[in-house]
Amino acid sequence: MSIIKLHDKYFKKYITKDQIAEATAQLAKQVAKDCRNETPIFIGVLNGSFVFVADFVRKYKFNCEVSFVKLSSYQGTSSTDVVHELIGINEDLTGRTIVILEDIIDTGTTLHKIYDSFKNKNVKQLKIATLFFKPDVYRKELPIDYIGKNIEDKFIVGYGLDYNGLGRNLPAVYQLTTETN
Ligand code: IMP
Ligand code: MG
Repeated sequence: MSIIKLHDKYFKKYITKDQIAEATAQLAKQVAKDCRNETPIFIGVLNGSFVFVADFVRKYKFNCEVSFVKLSSYQGTSSTDVVHELIGINEDLTGRTIVILEDIIDTGTTLHKIYDSFKNKNVKQLKIATLFFKPDVYRKELPIDYIGKNIEDKFIVGYGLDYNGLGRNLPAVYQLTTETN
């Protein structure tokens, strides 16, 4: 069993490179079925989605555009009021098909904020694709259009996902464990 250590925690191999590649290819196929007759704009949510987006768009065989957004949260004027702002979208999205690409959807809080900020941009349609989804944790009504893989409610790292900054460069996905070897 391959166990790795990041900061103070141990992680065990959970999803292989090949399984990720297969899930990504399936997602690209499904999205292509719905979007191939137009030029969708794929929007990756930074930081976590950078690896997934890079692989996804290379498996998408039709015309597309690619962009990234980041949800920055900072303290507002009073200490209790946290402001979320979406940065990175400069394109005119009027009449366009947008597909948000997420690495993982957990509670859905992040996604909800991002979705809301796209709603008033006069897009033609707004779809959501995520590589990993934790169905037992998801708390929102928002439908997820494309899911790569449902996973159990345990913390994972790798393939773009981090634990306090570490692990994003791992080619496979690892799950938090109490085992140490
Ligand atoms: P949500 O707002 O609860 O859906 O969480 C979304 C964000 O939290 C993701 O985009 C990730 O950046 C992070 N996240 C959620 N679950 C995990 C995990 O298991 N490992 C690493 N990051 C995660
Ligand atoms: Mg993310």
